[in-house]
Amino acid sequence: MIVLDQENKVFTLHTRNTTYQMKADRSRVLLHTYYGPRIGGGDLSRLIQYADRGFSPNPGDAGEDRAYSLDTLPQEYSTCGVGDFRLPSIEFERPDGSRLADLRYTGCQLNRGKYALPGLPAFWGGDEWETLVVFLEDAAAQMSVELYYGVAEEHDLITRAVRVVNRGTEAVRLCRCASLCLDFQRGDMDFITFNGCHAQERNLNRAPLRPGVQSVESVRGASSHHHNPFVILCERGANEDCGTCFGAMLVYSGNFLAAAERTQLENNRLLLGVNPYHFCYTLAPGQDFTAPEAALVCSPRGFGQMSRQFHRAIREHLIHDPCAGGRRPVLINNWEATEFHFDSSKLVSIASAAAPLGIELFVMDDGWFGKRDGDSSGLGDWFVNETKLPGGLADLAPKIRALGMSFGIWIEPEMVNEDSDLYRAHPDWALRAPGRPCARGRSQLVLDFSRREVRDHVYGAIKQVLGSADISYVKWDMNRSLTDVWSAALPADRQGELFHRFVLGVYDILDRMRRDFPHILIEGCCGGGGRFDAGMLYYTPQIWCSDNTDAIDRLRIQYGTSFCYPVSSMGAHVSAVPNQQTGRSVPIETRGVVAMAGTFGYEMDLNQTTGGEKETIKRQVAFFKTHYDLIQRGDYYRLSDPFADPYAAWEQVSSDRREALVSLVYGPNHASAPFRALRLKGLDPDALYRVNGGEPWRGDVLMAAGWPLPMPTGDYQSLQLYLNAE
Ligand code: GLA
Repeated sequence: MIVLDQENKVFTLHTRNTTYQMKADRSRVLLHTYYGPRIGGGDLSRLIQYADRGFSPNPGDAGEDRAYSLDTLPQEYSTCGVGDFRLPSIEFERPDGSRLADLRYTGCQLNRGKYALPGLPAFWGGDEWETLVVFLEDAAAQMSVELYYGVAEEHDLITRAVRVVNRGTEAVRLCRCASLCLDFQRGDMDFITFNGCHAQERNLNRAPLRPGVQSVESVRGASSHHHNPFVILCERGANEDCGTCFGAMLVYSGNFLAAAERTQLENNRLLLGVNPYHFCYTLAPGQDFTAPEAALVCSPRGFGQMSRQFHRAIREHLIHDPCAGGRRPVLINNWEATEFHFDSSKLVSIASAAAPLGIELFVMDDGWFGKRDGDSSGLGDWFVNETKLPGGLADLAPKIRALGMSFGIWIEPEMVNEDSDLYRAHPDWALRAPGRPCARGRSQLVLDFSRREVRDHVYGAIKQVLGSADISYVKWDMNRSLTDVWSAALPADRQGELFHRFVLGVYDILDRMRRDFPHILIEGCCGGGGRFDAGMLYYTPQIWCSDNTDAIDRLRIQYGTSFCYPVSSMGAHVSAVPNQQTGRSVPIETRGVVAMAGTFGYEMDLNQTTGGEKETIKRQVAFFKTHYDLIQRGDYYRLSDPFADPYAAWEQVSSDRREALVSLVYGPNHASAPFRALRLKGLDPDALYRVNGGEPWRGDVLMAAGWPLPMPTGDYQSLQLYLNAE
């Protein structure tokens, strides 16, 4: 619910459990007055204190009031060069070279429903949303800034976006435009980020904020394996179940900056948006720029509640799921089994071994097109390699269908190998600055997706492939970072737009594909989880979580990912042992349990498995299908910290609390291990639950005292407890 007090210019956004407030003060400066647990209302600007602070200047219109400074007031959208020395939200350069932004309130507008953003992914929905638009202007620069707020009351979710319009008569260069600025009138907070590298994504890191700026960012052109555009600020004592925490995510897949600043007055500012690195947009008179959406959840009850709010909001208001209401298929992918070395009969043999076990979708990974026998050639040539697949997809797809399975393919549209027909015909279509050699990544170059003709060509070829056979799934990959970011199609003073225009180009093709083939399930991928963000999830309901398929490493990767992103978004497969990335052997049961904490599938040649393993796989697939709703749509509870505890455990609970599934994976086994009990969460305390069909247990007992854990008899064993209330 949005409450506008026009007289006092106080704007209050209420969600079920939280309240957010801003106020335009007597100087029409938009102040941020509160964000936190839900309160009744009122004008919370009374919380703001004023005092003359040395070296904090006073705006011209404050007269002799030396206690009024933009440098000390909590700002809703911070300005630049006119007295606030903390992180600026916006920065633009006028033709006279000045870089000053002084924003003042001019009005607001309340709308039913959710705003949309042109060319950008954003949360969507109907009348359960409300939108507030707050208008600001810099009168001297003739620049207007519109702040958008979407409120999804039931989800405790507040979205934000920003549109900047040049209302003057001369071009202006926009060099910084954050999506979110959030000032806290408190300083004792921790900053939590999700960091890693290829094959070790999203490891959780937590540290108290210290004076100055702490930040994570990407300058790689994709959101990256290394840092994620999702961060948390929380009270020092906050944990899974207690304490107030604030999660902030950017609905964007390119360069981002998430910065937290602890200020001179020991307050905090959080800034989230497109990275100002190599960013500069020229706005001609009348032109506008829309910054990507950011989304916020405040949880007064710890991280678990925050995650569950994000999960539900992402599932119900961000992704477009072609299988909505039904079930996504259990898949088998041939990558780890064959890499590039396959032909039709090999693929059919892998699918044939999978079909009787209940696996429903066969995904043909990299290597089916052009001259693609390794990773140094073929990218860009999106036509079937008939040496490997005689008769093309029109021959192969029906063979897969005949096994009762659906069929999917891998593509990597943004890339080109120099050894390809496409590159030979259009060498200038790759990103590359004149007069210097460019860097290769995995022996490939990046196509200039800011250019319409490049996108049209690539998409035209892919569309033809997708239309040539019965294809129900696409894995969209992206296997290198951007370097040599220069476009032959942009003038010198617009090269700073290229990183962002590239991302808009990716979104354009994804959008076209989604509209042309609404039945196709698209899985995102970027060398695993190098572009695991809410922007991609808008188009690709699931994303390959990591190239690391080792079940034990995956526990940490999926744990970190779960803080923001739902189980149904995490691509996870059972692969062969010893694992290709770690050399570790983990029991097939455990590999199944871990993959079931994601979208669930297999990535191995099942012809190489024993009869006993096949029986286990058959049981896993049947179990997953039976409990699909609970696993994919249940409320998710983390029961351990796999970085600290001797086991990893998590739980899904149905919304009516009648059912729950508990999964646990032990670490390496040790002699004389202590007795342990696993305390469950989210159950109905008064209900009696049968655990794996056995004797009933009270919900309160399972939550307060726990379930006695059996002693493992070897390394990396696992268990699953299915609870149903009597
Ligand atoms: C990336 C993906 C893998 C696989 C290969 C194919 O690394 O993450 O899953 O598709 O590319 O080249």
